[in-house]
This record gives sequence, C-alpha cells and structure tokens, in this order.
Amino acid sequence: MPDTPTRTALVFGASGQIGDALLARLAGEGWQVFAVSRDPRPSSTGIVWLKGDFAGIAGLPSSVDVIFSTGPLDGFAQWYARGDVIASRVVAFGSTSLDTKQASGDAYERDIVARLQAAERTVFVTASACGAAATLLRPTLVYGAGRDQTLARIAAMGRRMGFFMLPRGADGKRQPVHVDDLAHAALAVVDASATHGQAYALPGGETLAYRDMVARTLAALSPPVRLWELPMPVFRAVLGIARMTGAMRGLTDDAVARMREDLVFDVAPARRDFGFAPLAFEVDARALGEGGR
Ligand SMILES: NC(=O)c1ccc[n+]([C@@H]2O[C@H](COP(=O)([O-])OP(=O)(O)OC[C@H]3O[C@@H](n4cnc5c(N)ncnc54)[C@H](OP(=O)(O)O)[C@@H]3O)[C@@H](O)[C@H]2O)c1
Repeated sequence: MPDTPTRTALVFGASGQIGDALLARLAGEGWQVFAVSRDPRPSSTGIVWLKGDFAGIAGLPSSVDVIFSTGPLDGFAQWYARGDVIASRVVAFGSTSLDTKQASGDAYERDIVARLQAAERTVFVTASACGAAATLLRPTLVYGAGRDQTLARIAAMGRRMGFFMLPRGADGKRQPVHVDDLAHAALAVVDASATHGQAYALPGGETLAYRDMVARTLAALSPPVRLWELPMPVFRAVLGIARMTGAMRGLTDDAVARMREDLVFDVAPARRDFGFAPLAFEVDARALGEGGR
C-alpha cells in the first residue's frame, strides 16, 4: 500500500487555548505543523515554531495544505490578504459575538463586531480570489483549558475571595463549548467539502442557565465556593464600588444585562456538514486551571 503523504499546516494563535488543543491533535495525527508565536518556543516532533506576528514571520514555508487561524481574526485576515503562503484550505476561528454583541450599548463591543465582520469577509474574498476554500468557525463561550476569560476567571476570583456574586435572575441560556471539541471541529472541516465558503456557530453540547453554569464551576472548586445571588440594585451598587477601586472594569453594564439574555445557537448545520457532536458541560481540574485533563 502506498504511504499517505504527510500533510502540512500553518497555525496562527498556536499557543492559545484553542491553538494548543489543535496542535496536540495535528501532531497526534502525524501532520507537519508550522506554529506561529510572538515568543521563541522550542520545536518538537512534528511541530516547528516560527517566531513572528502578522507584520512578519521568519522561516515561513511557501505553501502548506491548510492554514488554521486560532488567534485574533482581524490580524490574520490582513496577513492572509497579502498572500505570503499558498494553501488550498483555510480554517479560521471567529466568534458568535458577531451576533450577540451586534446591538450592544458599548461602542467598544460594537467595534469588535464590525472588525469580526470585516475580517470574515476578507478571509472569504481572499480565499475565493486565490482558488482556496475557507471555513469560518464561531465558538460560543469557550472553556476547558483553564485560560478563558469567563469560567477560568470566575474560578480564580471565587478561589481568591472565597465566594462569588451574581445578580438574581441571571438565567440567560448559555452553551459553553470545550476547547477539545473546537480542535476536533477544526480538523473535521478540513476534508468536508460541504463546509467550503461557510461559517458555522459552534455551541457546546449542553444549554444551561448562566447562574447554573457559574454555580457548577464554583461547586467544582476544591474547596467549593459559595454563590451569592443579590438583588440587581444591590449587585449594581457592589459593582460600582468595585469599579471605583479599579476592579471589575471588564464587567460592563451590557455584560451584566446579557446574563439575563439567552445566547443560544443551532448546532444542526455543523452536525450535518461535519458531524460536530460537542460534549455536555463538564468542569474538571483542567478547566479550572488546576492541572491536566
Ligand atoms: N475565548 C473565548 O471565549 C472565545 C469565544 C469565541 C471565539 N473565540 C475566538 O477563538 C479564537 C481563539 O481564541 P483563544 O481564546 O484560544 O485565543 P487567545 O488565547 O486569545 O489567542 C491565541 C494566541 O494568539 C496570539 N495572539 C494574541 N494576540 C495577538 C496579536 N495581537 N498579534 C499576534 N498574535 C496574537 C497569542 O500567541 P503568542 O502570544 O504566542 O503570539 C495567543 O496565545 C479567537 O479568534 C477568538 O476570537 C474565543
């Protein structure tokens, strides 16, 4: 039987929470990977780290089979439009923030949405101009590597304070998606021709209320941490005091309001086109930043 040729990939954002999980899968499946980081990193079997950023990368190959983007999409889109590396396939991560933050009252969040939209457009237009096929993957709330900005941060705060506070009625539905399911999806779309030129929401396998997601996270800590649910006016007053001390600045009024909104996406297109079957929400030690999974 003839040997299958080794497939090659260029991965942006490879040191990030999704990138890290993707690298492990690619290396495990025998790919030759060129991984980009702004910091120097030691290469290992199947993985060559290239130092650089979107302005310039030393040692880039002239072509690869697939380019994966698991870092900032806007920087990647601009780099890709320059056409430095030839690839017939491009798989890039965007975000469901595109939908959930479109009508935000926060100008910064609306700017993120505009940049995501422009970046997705650039990726599709560039791919089409060079005869490549692009697929955009938009995760919901990402967790699992203990490095995310939501659950890992809540776990760290709960651990530090010994309790955690939410406003009452934080019952908006969420679908946290695990980094390993996202890495699996990125590989699954590569050979799925139905995904060419398409964008997919990638929700997790369980839909649950925001407060339950937080409560399960705090309960998994060792020792478990208590969740206090405060009437909204009291929560806002406490938040105001915290902001005056320089804390909790990232928790905007819009983010608090969204805790009551359902941010729910249909898994059906991703399931139909590349068999996406994410696991139910499970917080383990790794997701809490406490060790391996
Ligand atoms: N986290 C979430 O909840 C979430 C939700 C939905 C969608 N997403 C999307 O999924 C993708 C990956 O998310 P992630 O949280 O895994 O990524 P991340 O950890 O934020 O970033 C991945 C890597 O990208 C590189 N990077 C960051 N800023 C950069 C810059 N300005 N220039 C060049 N490189 C930069 C960094 O690598 P080096 O430091 O090694 O250079 C970083 O480790 C992103 O497109 C994100 O928008 C994330």
